[in-house]
Amino acid sequence: MSSLAWARSGGRAGSVLGWGRRGTGALSGVHPSARRFIIDLSYSAHFMDFKGSSIPSSMKKLVVTKLSPNFRDAVRTQTVAVPTPGDSDLLVRNRFVGINASDINYSAGRYDPSLKPPFDAGFEGIGEVVGLGLSASSRYTIGDTVAYFGSGAFAEYTVVPAKESVPVPAVKPEFLTLLVSGATAYIALKRLGDLTKGETVLITAAAGGTGQFAVQFAKKAGCHVIGTCSSNEKAGFLKSLGCDRAINYTTEDLAKILRKEYPHGIDVVYESVGGSVLELAVNSLAKKGRLIVIGFISGYQTASGVPSFRGGTLPVKLLQKSASIRGFFLPHFLSDYREALDSMMQMYAKGELVCEVDCGDLAQGGKFMGLESVFQAVDYMYAGKNLGKVVVEVTPPTVSNSKL
Ligand SMILES: NC(=O)c1ccc[n+]([C@@H]2O[C@H](COP(=O)([O-])OP(=O)(O)OC[C@H]3O[C@@H](n4cnc5c(N)ncnc54)[C@H](OP(=O)(O)O)[C@@H]3O)[C@@H](O)[C@H]2O)c1
Repeated sequence: MSSLAWARSGGRAGSVLGWGRRGTGALSGVHPSARRFIIDLSYSAHFMDFKGSSIPSSMKKLVVTKLSPNFRDAVRTQTVAVPTPGDSDLLVRNRFVGINASDINYSAGRYDPSLKPPFDAGFEGIGEVVGLGLSASSRYTIGDTVAYFGSGAFAEYTVVPAKESVPVPAVKPEFLTLLVSGATAYIALKRLGDLTKGETVLITAAAGGTGQFAVQFAKKAGCHVIGTCSSNEKAGFLKSLGCDRAINYTTEDLAKILRKEYPHGIDVVYESVGGSVLELAVNSLAKKGRLIVIGFISGYQTASGVPSFRGGTLPVKLLQKSASIRGFFLPHFLSDYREALDSMMQMYAKGELVCEVDCGDLAQGGKFMGLESVFQAVDYMYAGKNLGKVVVEVTPPTVSNSKL
């Protein structure tokens, strides 16, 4: 997930979407949590639930201080004052934040070359409103639960424009999986996949954050789904999602399997790895096949960020099969975003969508808790250990003693 346009617009999706109207938000399909209404109007410019949530005077946040795809080199933890929300903003206490493969593209400055360090890291969070500006109070109140897709999420508290936040029924990490990972799979397959029942779909990095959703949406479209992953445990997870052929590429030869078991080729590829995997996928396309470039994670840790790709004969290959390669970048499809979230929320509420979250319970250092564990979580993803969406629990649940 990277977007120059997105980063230049302040890194937030909601301004385009106009979210945040109470009760009409994208994720309003399930019962909202109980609200504590503000009766103390002693603050004229903004309301802060200092009494209820014990907002401290300082907080930690992760700041990119040097451009590098090595997240540990690029990012430092800083202790700063808890920000005060502006008139139309919310102050969100982040309970959970999502880790994305592109967090290291962002720390390398690949999103917006004009953005110079220091700048804040993290793309998405979910938490509770603990403070808000006067205008924002017409739509939100203290205690509301919101999610957001925007910059600066790797912090204990983040200021989010009210119109850019997404009301959620509860602070559950499952909702966080939909903001970027789920939306990418939903919109990319819908807009660029042209899936037809009975077609064969190959999904790479299938057991990860976005891959898990691509598997489920391709199955819902009636396709035969092949998913690649790096362990038997992940292959088992893919099977549980309905994946017809889970390939653990560490024990099975992907090229041989595709050649032998799919001699007519692959109709649609949802491709996230790049390099040699992309080459293989191109060579495996069926007549009129469509390959969607979702990412190229195998190159993100390198200086260029781009894995090598031998594409000299690409035009010939595409022409001979009337095949196509299509790029997808979520921030370019924001007009589809609201419908995608609504639809996925309905599916989740009905028990028709698995939103697998990996909080690192089985990671070497244990569960990802506290802001500092974002570093471990990024390493964990790049070691290929995650099963589902990597999520960090930034702060513990609030025990409310609000007097507001
Ligand atoms: N275009 C967009 O708008 C958009 C939006 C969101 C995400 N994406 C892309 O989707 C892909 C997945 O992102 P995500 O955030 O959902 O991550 P993820 O799939 O949750 O985690 C990354 C997975 O990729 C595999 N992997 C990790 N390092 C690798 C490496 N060096 N070489 C090859 N495979 C590696 C691992 O799976 P295995 O070990 O099982 O292979 C790992 O679990 C990335 O390419 C990302 O850029 C694109």
